[in-house]
Amino acid sequence: MMLPEDKKEELQKQILEGEAPREQAINVMFALQKCYGYLSDEAVAEAAHMLGMTTLEIEELATFYDFLYREPVGTYVIHVCDSSICWMYGEETVMDYLVKKLAITPGETTADGLFTILPVCCVGYCDHAPVMLINGKPYGPLTPEYIDRILEDIRVRHPECEEVK
Ligand code: FES
Repeated sequence: MMLPEDKKEELQKQILEGEAPREQAINVMFALQKCYGYLSDEAVAEAAHMLGMTTLEIEELATFYDFLYREPVGTYVIHVCDSSICWMYGEETVMDYLVKKLAITPGETTADGLFTILPVCCVGYCDHAPVMLINGKPYGPLTPEYIDRILEDIRVRHPECEEVK
């Protein structure tokens, strides 16, 4: 898959007009990720080419951003806050619960391609702790029942995917 021409032109215009190359690099990487599903090697090369940077520079920059993925991810990326306030609630952390429930470890994707779980530092919703984001949307305060309900709602929208055991 390639970045659509019109999107490419729009980004190129932004790059030429932009004052902060780093910021432009982030925009370009997010646009490519949206197109490819993740920041594949091909996408990194394309970003480097567009920005006049090296692939190494792009890769280094990408590692700073929790929402840029260098590996394929599921349709729903669950970012679980693992900062202290979110840890203080309940004996079992949200991450522990999700690991058990989805039978994957952090960084992995369910076999049906639906969910990826990733730890993330405080996402700024501490007053709703414990919190997780699903594709950037915050949910909290979480309980096991609430998590079950959220996952179930998503599953209902994807009947082609198997039930989570
Ligand atoms: S500590 Fe979890 S959202 Fe702030």
